[in-house]
Amino acid sequence: MGQSQFLFNCTTEAMASAAAAIKAGVLVVFPTETVYGLGADACNSQAVERIYEVKGRPAEHPLIVHIASMSEMGKWSVDISTYAISLARDFWPGPMTLIVKRSPMALDFITGGQESVGLRVPNHVVALALLDACAKIGVTGIAAPSANRFGQVSPTTASAVVQELGAYLSPQDLILDGGPSLVGIESTIIDCTGDIPRILRPGAITVEMIEASTGLQVTEPLLTLPMDSVIDKEIRVSGSLESHYAPIAKVILGEVPMAGQGFIALSDWRTPEGVIRLASPKNSEEYARDLYAALRRADELGLREVVAIQPVGVGIEVAIRDRLQRASHGR
Ligand code: TXA
Ligand code: MG
Repeated sequence: MGQSQFLFNCTTEAMASAAAAIKAGVLVVFPTETVYGLGADACNSQAVERIYEVKGRPAEHPLIVHIASMSEMGKWSVDISTYAISLARDFWPGPMTLIVKRSPMALDFITGGQESVGLRVPNHVVALALLDACAKIGVTGIAAPSANRFGQVSPTTASAVVQELGAYLSPQDLILDGGPSLVGIESTIIDCTGDIPRILRPGAITVEMIEASTGLQVTEPLLTLPMDSVIDKEIRVSGSLESHYAPIAKVILGEVPMAGQGFIALSDWRTPEGVIRLASPKNSEEYARDLYAALRRADELGLREVVAIQPVGVGIEVAIRDRLQRASHGR
């Protein structure tokens, strides 16, 4: 296992040295409110190349550029629509990624050769402190995918990052520990390059919130269809592969669990005899927050099968069902 260092605090000095590391081309794993990100200077092609190596991800997939504030948007994008501005104003910092037309700053190794770029201001003190420290030394964006191996469950704690990537990081790489991610599932991705917003990946920023912010009707992917038929072929969203976010254990949706199986459901579902309860969230927000840790725990316990009861509702529940359905497609 690699000996990446841990930084447990968020002092100005610690953030300044993490930012200097990013500027020097080192990878820095950092916490966000959604999941942990595997970060590199978004203008450094060699550093970004290492993200792909460490993740084991095909190189043509585009990366989200994390920025310190909405005012940095204009550096990375052009022709930003009015509705994208209202979304940024209403939900940044927050669990939302906007796909906008790229500026010359967003090079092909970030966008996967597409004319669009994904931007996000994360809502986490450590991430924001790191982004501020980076901005001070001329690094205007941190490219970061979720800090997991390709196709696997995203990490929501620093120790999950070590499990996922410890063997692939180099000794000079850093992992910033910011505690458990409070949202727990990846950001809502909204394509803002057309006349109306289009959700490419559901998350904690819901259809209702987007419609209230923009005054426009939103198109969202239909979860029951193969993603290829609802998402343009030219827009590559790796999280849109049918099998993704998948643990080793087989995830079975909506059945009564049997002895020896893991079980994830809201707390009002009781645990049958011999069943291993992996999460008992009291509401949907807790469900999202605890889901990935529960799937990880299933693998740690060596469980072969996990039964999950999907939450009902049209808010963050849509995103939870999306992740559960992808996890259930297995490897
Ligand atoms: O919550 C999140 O979004 C986390 C944290 C770390 O910010 N990041 C994350 O990154 O989930 P990643 O790379 O695991 O997923 C981002 C998705 C990918 O599927 C990528 O293909 C898509 O966003 N994406 C990025 N740029 C895009 C673009 N220009 N057009 C379409 N999809 C894009
Ligand atoms: Mg990911």
